[in-house]
Amino acid sequence: MENKAPRGTYDILPPVSGKWQYVEQILRETAALYGFHEIRTPIFEHTELFERGVGSTTDVVGKEMYTFKDRSDRSLTLRPENTASCARALIEHSVYSGILPVKWYYMGPMFRYDRPQAGRYRQFHQFGAEVFGSNDPRVDAEIILLLLDILQRLNLSDYELHLNSVGCTVCRSRYREKLVKHITPVQERLCRDCKQRYEQNPLRVLDCKNEKCQEAIQGYPRFFDYLCEDCREHYSQVKNSLTDNGVRFIHDDRLVRGLDYYTRTAFEVHIPGIGAQSAVGGGGRYDGLVEDCGGPQVPGIGFAMGIERLLLALQELDYDNLQDNYLDVFIAVMDHNFEDTALKTLQELRAAGIRSDKDYLCRSPKAQMKYADRLGARLVILIGEEEVRHKVFTVRDMNSKKQETVTAEDLLRYIRSILVKQD
Ligand code: HAM
Repeated sequence: MENKAPRGTYDILPPVSGKWQYVEQILRETAALYGFHEIRTPIFEHTELFERGVGSTTDVVGKEMYTFKDRSDRSLTLRPENTASCARALIEHSVYSGILPVKWYYMGPMFRYDRPQAGRYRQFHQFGAEVFGSNDPRVDAEIILLLLDILQRLNLSDYELHLNSVGCTVCRSRYREKLVKHITPVQERLCRDCKQRYEQNPLRVLDCKNEKCQEAIQGYPRFFDYLCEDCREHYSQVKNSLTDNGVRFIHDDRLVRGLDYYTRTAFEVHIPGIGAQSAVGGGGRYDGLVEDCGGPQVPGIGFAMGIERLLLALQELDYDNLQDNYLDVFIAVMDHNFEDTALKTLQELRAAGIRSDKDYLCRSPKAQMKYADRLGARLVILIGEEEVRHKVFTVRDMNSKKQETVTAEDLLRYIRSILVKQD
């Protein structure tokens, strides 16, 4: 048996899991601040949901899905993203007929069979936010403001926001025709992927990273020039709202995004410092998705961020200083006869909400102190002959190295007074 996690997956061990918890807490708190509530959907769905929702010509659906048959011969797929699942849940529970807009956020693993590299995994984690039921361009601005606020709260300020409008079905088909006309004479110069995109989804040729493709399509018609009146007005209002709120963005007419459901606003946020996979988040409007999934016409907009990529950008974060890696109290016994007293005291401390631990390997007193230090204990309670005889505890402050003798009645109050000072 190979003792290795499957390619593109990995374990998150302590203390790194503390760093994840820190980021997750900021994500949840910020989402709540903007009026979003959590939705949890299944890890796998009927394959058809992604084929219809995300689009069968996309790379995600065509090449990257983990699809399998269950024992009843149903085709199921590990979710490659969560927007289609949210649309499915909105329809299944008729949430669209309640109070609108619906504001949901989610967090969890997604699965895509792609070539793993730094910042790209086969099981990765997304935080996402979706708003269903409003066309208002201010909602587009708000969703982008939420994403940027998260980055700010994580102290990530070196980002670039790329913004575009990919129009509605009407203006997009008009633009598509123009673009195909432009590409047709040069199609032989395109890379293999783009030759296929040219056939199935020509807009995706615009955001191919291959320089030869970009050279071949030089002078391509600009989407902006083909937007219909309504889409142009909507885009202009989104930009105004962003500018009003002090957001700087780059209008990027090559930004088309890799999923088929987008309409109008599309955006991506990059942190160039994290390498080739620099998109920490992306999203956009999807006014036809709910209908494509078999529901009524309900507009929507959202985004998702890759948590691994946020953590890459946060590599400098000193997680030793994150509170969760600390232990408040370690109980050390000077004699192993006092192990039972130590365990009882430990349980009293825990009942009082104090994070505490002890040794379970019969370490010597000196080795226990070393162990307490490695666990990051703020205080060590020493229990020896003297202490038990006089019904007191010796409490050692691991920062100042000072020791105090405290009565059993006074122990909790004393510990709390020191922990409060620490906060
Ligand atoms: P996406 O652009 O495919 O959009 O993914 C969003 C983010 O997930 C990316 O910007 C990236 O940070 C992260 N990500 C994607 N694939 C990987 C991977 N293989 N490894 C690590 N991180 C990855 C969506 O998924 C849409 N559902 C977003 C959305 C929500 N649009 C509207 N609402």
